[in-house]
Amino acid sequence: MKFLHLSTLPGDPHIAYRQNTLFIEQVGASAVAEAFGTPTYVYSRGAIEAAARQYAEAAAHDTVRVALRYAVKANSNLAVLQLLARLGWGFDIVSGGELQRVLAAGGQAGKVVFSGVGKTAAEMRLALDAGVDCFNVESPNELALLDRVAAERGKTARVALRVNPDVDAGTHPYISTGLKTNKFGIAQEQAVDLAVRIALLPHVQLVGIACHIGSQITTVEPYLDALDKVLDLVEAMERKGARIEHIDLGGGLGIRYSDETPPTAQQWLQPLLARIAARGFGHRTVMVEPGRSVVGNAGVLLTRTLFVKSTPAKHFAVVDAGMNDLIRPALYHAEQAVVTVQRRDGAPRRYDIVGPVCESADWLARDRALVLDEGDLLAVLSSGAYGMVMASNYNSRGRPAEVLIDGNEMTLLRPRETAEQLYASERLLP
Ligand code: LLP
Repeated sequence: MKFLHLSTLPGDPHIAYRQNTLFIEQVGASAVAEAFGTPTYVYSRGAIEAAARQYAEAAAHDTVRVALRYAVKANSNLAVLQLLARLGWGFDIVSGGELQRVLAAGGQAGKVVFSGVGKTAAEMRLALDAGVDCFNVESPNELALLDRVAAERGKTARVALRVNPDVDAGTHPYISTGLKTNKFGIAQEQAVDLAVRIALLPHVQLVGIACHIGSQITTVEPYLDALDKVLDLVEAMERKGARIEHIDLGGGLGIRYSDETPPTAQQWLQPLLARIAARGFGHRTVMVEPGRSVVGNAGVLLTRTLFVKSTPAKHFAVVDAGMNDLIRPALYHAEQAVVTVQRRDGAPRRYDIVGPVCESADWLARDRALVLDEGDLLAVLSSGAYGMVMASNYNSRGRPAEVLIDGNEMTLLRPRETAEQLYASERLLP
């Protein structure tokens, strides 16, 4: 039976049981539910900062300079971005909206890299005017558009070519991005030509090379494979006169949701930096764009059990969080640990933990052994990344509140959405 007697919870030590009650730092999870209701995303400031610090330590190297660029898409709450900006992090964005969030949170545009396969001219304009550091370009036509937009703004855009290294990251097909059948990146066969052609475009300047092979990757090997291919391309590009200042390795480092054993930031980064130095590229800057591994284990989704429902086939715990609040189980069959906030004695039963949304895909966990009663609070662990950012208003459900715990203090980062807010900008017919 999964997750029955977890002495240590998968995830971060800032989220742990004390005398059979789940705490986030010094605050009992039930106190959060009492103050702000459920469903609510709860983040530990200490856990986010600890993960960020581990990256800073992992980035230390004699000759390679590492630039940390948090992938905003994982959790774009302004306060989360603010914490990381204060620690000196830059940001990896994939939309104009994310850029606006970064700037609103006090991030520096000069430390922003703009990724994404489908940037619009309007987004390019916004990013050029803000002064982002670099555009990670994914196709010749995108490059041509960027050149035109930069000309119109009287600027020169700094560009990295995102190449597709065609490696299998061994992760879920929906979150694997570095295979040649994926839509992402420029094929290796085309990358060198394009690097040469950039010189003909007056308003873009090639400064880097980038790749990103997928997400929730739990071994270093695919990264080393990708890195070797990227370095081969750097060599080929530089033989033709290009000058590559930085190598962006993307994000993707996995976290422990249940029994995974992903490398630490140190175990991930150091072999890559060593390979870069060993191959004679030690004087470059290396960028990394981690998202999940910075915030994933720092958050839980708190939800309350509405009903326990037993059919001849199954026991269901119907809870007040649904697929609209946390879509990862429905979309990727993701298995996140679910625990009761209050641990109590009794014979566990196996539950499917399901939400109120009218879809059979509306489940948060399946076949979990729990001692559970109606009214009990549950916590879906490791929900700090790709949780709230992927939440929707399906079934006209307001999205959850978000709360940050810092020691014994709770701060409401975003109140629960109300129904009125959901239709506030809609218009009735005359
Ligand atoms: N850089 C680029 C260009 C990316 O596309 C991504 C994630 C990242 C960095 C950050 O990757 P991370 O370190 O967070 O793995 N919604 C999915 C994950 C999608 C990831 C998309 N790209 C999930 O819930 O598993």
